[in-house]
Amino acid sequence: MTDQRFPHRHLLGIQGLGPQEITAILDLADGYVDQNRSIDKRKSLLRGRTLVNLFFENSTRTRTSFELAGKRLGADVINMQTQASSVAKGETLIDTAMTLNAMHLDALVVRHPDSGAVKLLSEKVNCAVINGGDGSHEHPTQALLDALTIRRHKGRLAGLTVAICGDVVHSRVARSNIYLLNTMGAQVRLIGPKTLMPTAVDRMGVDVYHDMRKGLDGVDVVMMLRIQNERMKGNFIPSIREYFHFFGLDREKLAMAKPDAVIMHPGPMNRGVEIDSDVADDVERSLIREQVEMGVAVRMACLDLLTRNIPNQVAV
Ligand code: CP
Repeated sequence: MTDQRFPHRHLLGIQGLGPQEITAILDLADGYVDQNRSIDKRKSLLRGRTLVNLFFENSTRTRTSFELAGKRLGADVINMQTQASSVAKGETLIDTAMTLNAMHLDALVVRHPDSGAVKLLSEKVNCAVINGGDGSHEHPTQALLDALTIRRHKGRLAGLTVAICGDVVHSRVARSNIYLLNTMGAQVRLIGPKTLMPTAVDRMGVDVYHDMRKGLDGVDVVMMLRIQNERMKGNFIPSIREYFHFFGLDREKLAMAKPDAVIMHPGPMNRGVEIDSDVADDVERSLIREQVEMGVAVRMACLDLLTRNIPNQVAV
């Protein structure tokens, strides 16, 4: 595995990755979990490399974990504050990308509110580009860290039944997870009101439920989604109170899942909207904190694999 090359220049989405490529990332990330739990967390694999985080949307987990991932591998890491950059003066995405490209970056992590913006940018630069979330399109490293979390708890992905619940239509996390879980042989159920389901849901290889209790019946994993008010134009739900009543995860609805079913949420959580604190903080069932830990390891694995394709890699 240590000599393996990743056959893609960028990581723009899970769509298009095969099971072997996904497994290779997860296997490598497993090793980085051990490194991150040791006292000496730092390696020099990416010594001399430069990673830039370019986030046009807010982030806590993704931006911080990419920064940690880069630093733990020995790279120089720069976090660009777009509101304090020339973007705020009207510089375009492409001009911003070309400007950064002239500084000889090795890896660029981009989050952008428009679906497809990260791919467009990747066509203008020489470095490896990682999609940190584009609109409601994809968030590949979130799906990879979710998969690593599930695999470490259940020992496999194939054959599991995973319920993805809530605001599916606006969720890049849901889309990337659907691609990944389908590719790895898991069964995916989508649960939510009709107003929050994508129009093309019947072509996504999933089973759809509008009754949460029926949808959770016998599942292995319950993955909750945040209600994304910032992407909603119009009224998608009648009220928070009614939404929580029908689609919020609480102890009573969770009882429909398998007794050893685990609870996940990509964060940030809206407590009392899509998830009750009682289940979110259940140390026996909730993997939400562990998802954050796996995020650093998965992002280290992605940076490791993608920079193997760039010439002049520093010997370890
Ligand atoms: N899950 C996720 O992407 O969280 P952030 O928005 O905090 O990065």
